[in-house]
Parts: sequence; C-alpha cells; structure tokens
Amino acid sequence: MTSPSPKGAFRIAIAGLGTVGGGVVKALVARGDELSRRAGRKLEIAGVSARDKDKARGFEISGWTGDAVSLGKGDADIVVELIGGDEGIARQLVETALSNKKHVVTANKALLAKHGLALAKLAESNGVTLKFEAAAAGGIPIVKALREGLIAQPINAVKGILNGTCNYILTEMESSGRAFAEVLKEAQAKGYAEADPTLDVGGGDTAHKLALLTSIAFGTAPDLNAVAVDGIEHITPDDIAFASEFGFRIKLLGVAKRVSGQIDQKVHPAMVRVRSALANVSGAANGVLVDAGEAGSFFFSGRGAGEAPTASAVIADIVEAASGGPSTVFGRPADSLARLDPADGKQAVSPWYLRFEVLDVPGVLASIATQLAEAGVSIESMIQRGRAPGEPVAIVMITHETAQHSVERALKAIGASDKVRAKPCMIPMES
Ligand SMILES: NC(=O)c1ccc[n+]([C@@H]2O[C@H](COP(=O)([O-])OP(=O)(O)OC[C@H]3O[C@@H](n4cnc5c(N)ncnc54)[C@H](OP(=O)(O)O)[C@@H]3O)[C@@H](O)[C@H]2O)c1
Repeated sequence: MTSPSPKGAFRIAIAGLGTVGGGVVKALVARGDELSRRAGRKLEIAGVSARDKDKARGFEISGWTGDAVSLGKGDADIVVELIGGDEGIARQLVETALSNKKHVVTANKALLAKHGLALAKLAESNGVTLKFEAAAAGGIPIVKALREGLIAQPINAVKGILNGTCNYILTEMESSGRAFAEVLKEAQAKGYAEADPTLDVGGGDTAHKLALLTSIAFGTAPDLNAVAVDGIEHITPDDIAFASEFGFRIKLLGVAKRVSGQIDQKVHPAMVRVRSALANVSGAANGVLVDAGEAGSFFFSGRGAGEAPTASAVIADIVEAASGGPSTVFGRPADSLARLDPADGKQAVSPWYLRFEVLDVPGVLASIATQLAEAGVSIESMIQRGRAPGEPVAIVMITHETAQHSVERALKAIGASDKVRAKPCMIPMES
C-alpha cells in the first residue's frame, strides 16, 4: 500500500449539500484514504456551504459557512459548485474561485452552457482547471471520453438520451399506454421529475448538456442559442403505439452533427429503431452514441442522474485536479475554440412520422394528401384509425426522405383547416 506523496493536502470546499453535494461528501468521507492514494495527496474537506445549516443530511458538517461565495476566496485548492442555476450565487462562486486561482468542479450544465467560454478563459488565465464531468450525462464519463479519448479522428456526430426524466416518462408511457400528464404526475411523486418539470420535459436540460458535448466534440465554443429545441409534452400514447407498429420507439434525443463544415444541434423527440442501442436505454438511464469517423462508433450508457452516479463523476474530477490531470476545459485552449457555425437545421432530411387528428368527414384525407404533395412531401405508408362516432380520427403517415422545412410548410397549411382538431405532429425517423 503506497501512502500519499509528501505533497500538501488538497483542500476541497463544497458549496451545495443537496443530492449531489451530499453524495460527494459521503464518498469523500467513506473512501477518502483510497481516493487520496489515487490523487497522490491527501484529500481534505476544507469547508462546506448550503442554505440551511440545521438540515439533517446524514453526515457531519465541519467548516460550515453560510456565505458560499466566501469559499472562493478562502484557503481551499478546489471549489466544488453544486448549488445550480445559470446566474446568481453559483456563477458568483465559480468566478470568484477561478479569479482566486482555485480549481473548480461543477455539475452545473446550465451555467456552463451559458457562460462556458468566458469561464474557460477565466480558468486558463488563472492557471487553474474547470471540470464538469457530472454536468453532461451524470455518471457516464462521456466528457472524458470526448475530451481525451476520441481525439484522433474528427467526430461526425454525437447523439444522446441525456435527460433521465424524459426517458423515464417515455418508457412508462410505452409500457403502460398512459398519457404524458398522468405519467409526469407519477414521476413527480416518485422524485424522478421536478415540481416544475419545464426544463426537463421541454428539452432545455438536454440542450444544456448537448451544447457542452458539442463544444468538446467539435472544438467550438458552447452555443446554447444555436440548439433547436423541442420537448416531449406533445407526444401521445397513440404516437408511441404507432411507433411500435412501425418497429420504432420514441426517445428525446440531443443530436449534434457535422453538416458540410457546419454544426447542426437539435433536441427533439425522434423515432429510433427498436433494436438500436439508443432504443434500449430504458427508464431514467442515459445513453450517448458517438460517431468518431474512421475510429468507429461508440456507445455509452448508464445512470445520468442521482446521488451516487453524479457524485462519482464529481469525485473523478476532484481526483484528476488533485493529481494535476488534463487542464483544458473543453479539450483545447479556450482561445482556439472556434465560433460555432450553425447549420440550417431545417434543411435536415429524413423520413417523417406525421399524425393528424381530423374530423371524420369526406374529403379531409384528400385535402391533406394534396397539401403534402404541393409541399413536395411524398408518402410511403399510411394508417387511419377509426374512433367512436363524433370523435376525431387519427391519420398517421410515414413520408419518404424529405427536408424538414417542406414538412413544416405542409403541416402549417394543413393545421389551419377547421377539420384538423389539433396541431399536427411530426417526428423524424432515425435511419
Ligand atoms: N441531482 C442530480 O442527479 C444531478 C445530476 C447532474 C447534475 N446535477 C446538477 O448538480 C447541481 C446540484 O443539483 P442537486 O440535485 O444536488 O440540487 P439540490 O439537491 O437542490 O441541492 C442544492 C444545494 O444547494 C444549496 N443552496 C441553494 N442555494 C444556496 C445558496 N444561496 N448558498 C449556498 N447553498 C445553496 C442547497 O442548500 P440546502 O440543502 O440547505 O437547501 C442544497 O444543499 C445542479 O447544477 C444540477 O443541475 C444534478
């Protein structure tokens, strides 16, 4: 057994003692000796902060301060920011710590997706590191894989299920046939969804994570504004059942692709083939597929959230910082990150699943077919489902490969008809 090197202790300040912060403290207490040996120096908790000092947390608290930002000016070597939020106290703390030459580890994707480039520059100009493995896919070491592993060949695409809440909801909708709202309620009761689920189900959280993965994969500054975002609120049990009939499953994907030298970033529900790796990421799990060109395709899956997996990623970052591991934030010096040149995502071509809820009256189908044809959308197959008299009828079509803008144009025209009872649904089908 080797003992820690004579280097001084590595002093860790932890701000935020909730799900992730609590997990980090517990892991450092339980496995401190082994982790210190890995780091080559003793890891020591120098201070902690949260909102409520008296909250029962299941571990002893020492080095408490009620002023989280002060941890960024104290005597710690590293500040671990686990409060959350893209502004406010989290941003102040990270900026203060980096300016005071302290390494920073964070799980805060919202902060980095918005301010990543500025923070990376601040870290580098102060000669410290800013690490965020836990921010992208919880316990899956995808940041490390993209930043240090898959670097020899240009990456063509990164495609991921990056939000466990959405994946849980879609999985439950499929297995039980229940509607989105009902399953969301259950997910909230079980702690899989926040009281305000908007960021998750609306696709915003996936967009934060995708912006970070895009940056590392393609060498561009994170650009959240260049991500087109659609969530899962409009997915119905019908969509899921129809998908299954066609041999597909619906997943919320974050997709970043190289398209003729530009980058297309999208978050949207997509139909993936039931036998594909992504289709088999179930429940609250995450999965990421990386197309690394000649090096091949690589698939990573595992737990994307929760105390232990997320703390595992944070601990890995702390140990790497303590042992003087790689220092660039997004895999190359911040000054060499290119400005992201966004592709026109509406040019993206794929087969589409279309669903129309229409009144069961003569001529509706013919009029839909005409409007699709006028926009250049050709149909490969169609299913029409009868309902009880007086209820709208579902018409589902699968198109041949068509550009997104053509399908959108047709659906806008079709949706304007008073015979069409709900906004038509379009979902790309992954090849
Ligand atoms: N939960 C996950 O599975 C997961 C996965 C990946 C990434 N993340 C990210 O990790 C970060 C933390 O998430 P979490 O789930 O651990 O959140 P959480 O359970 O809500 O914990 C937040 C912590 O921040 C503390 N806090 C809030 N305001 C504060 C303030 N003004 N000063 C000091 N402390 C303050 C809270 O104090 P009290 O305890 O006293 O209320 C709490 O300990 C977020 O950025 C999140 O996006 C979470």
